Parts: sequence; structure tokens; C-alpha cells
Amino acid sequence: MPYTEQQFNLPELAGLSAKQLEVHLKLYAGYVKNVNDIQEKLAEYRTDSAANAVAIAELTRRFGFEFNGMRLHELYFEALGGNGEVVENSLKGALATQYGSFEAWLTAFKALGVMRGIGWVLLTYDEKGKVFNNVWVSDHELGCLVDTKIIVALDMWEHAFMVDYVPAQKADYVAMVLTNLQWDVVGKRFNP
Ligand SMILES: [Fe+2]
Repeated sequence: MPYTEQQFNLPELAGLSAKQLEVHLKLYAGYVKNVNDIQEKLAEYRTDSAANAVAIAELTRRFGFEFNGMRLHELYFEALGGNGEVVENSLKGALATQYGSFEAWLTAFKALGVMRGIGWVLLTYDEKGKVFNNVWVSDHELGCLVDTKIIVALDMWEHAFMVDYVPAQKADYVAMVLTNLQWDVVGKRFNP
């Protein structure tokens, strides 16, 4: 079954213009299309997997990039639309327990956002180890921690902010995204 492009009813967001969001949502749509195109092509190539071995290998390697690009953008856009209020929920409490305070976690998370390079900053929760990790993911897939729940996904590709910000203003973009986060939405990812 092909994947369907999700629709996000985003309100007007502080610090992220309608133009910026429009450009970004178009890019997201491209990931959904490419995921479906790759699946379709792989099905075709599998009819003669020996003759198409190189193409199958290359497309299969590509799949993780496109799929994670699709899914990470969904996690990003789904969580936008908040008013900056950090609700008191089990996520906030658990972050405070691990990092000493919620603010200490937030400071550490924001600091990763200004790293050089393109990719994502993720807050993930490892249920096996009962531990949060703030991680940097290059592109969409390199460094993504397997078998952990992605709680917050912050897009740090330049396309995510370059309509509204220059690279030297990355920290402002990061702050604006976190201001627009719906903490009840991300809280449910931790504790459904
Ligand atoms: Fe993006």
C-alpha cells in the first residue's frame, strides 16, 4: 500500500512564516512520493532480481533516507501549533528527573541545534534502558537510534529555516520551533 501525504492544519506560527512552511511542506510531500516510487520500482526490479541487482541494492540503500525523511517531517509538523506553554505532564517530570531540571534538558537540546551540518536533533526515549537521549541525526538516518521512541523532532536542514533565518540565526530558529511545540502532543509520544 502506498503511503499517503499527511495534511497538517497549521495555525499562524510565531517566527515561522507561511512561506517558510509552504516551502517545507512541499519538500515533505517529495519524501512521501519518493518512498512510494522506490517501493514501486523495487517491485518491478524484483521480477528479475539477478539482472537488477545493482539497482535493487542502490534503491534499498536509498529507502532509509526517504522513509526517515517522510516520517521525521510528520513528527515535526504534527507537533507544531502550540503556544509555548510547557504543560505539566509525565514527560516533563521524567526529563527533570534525568537531567536535573526540565530547563537543563531544554538547554542541552537547544545546544545541539546549532551544530554544524544538516540533519535532525531528536529527543528519543529508550524504553529498554529507561533513558532519554538527545541525538544528532545526519541527513535523515545516520545516527538514528533504533528501537527508541522519537519524542521531539527538530529539523535542522537549512530548508527548514532559510526563508526566515540565515545560518547565523540557527539558535533563533531553534528557539522558535520549541516555542511553537505542542507539549501535550509530544507528551503523548512518551506516555500515550
Ligand atoms: Fe525538512
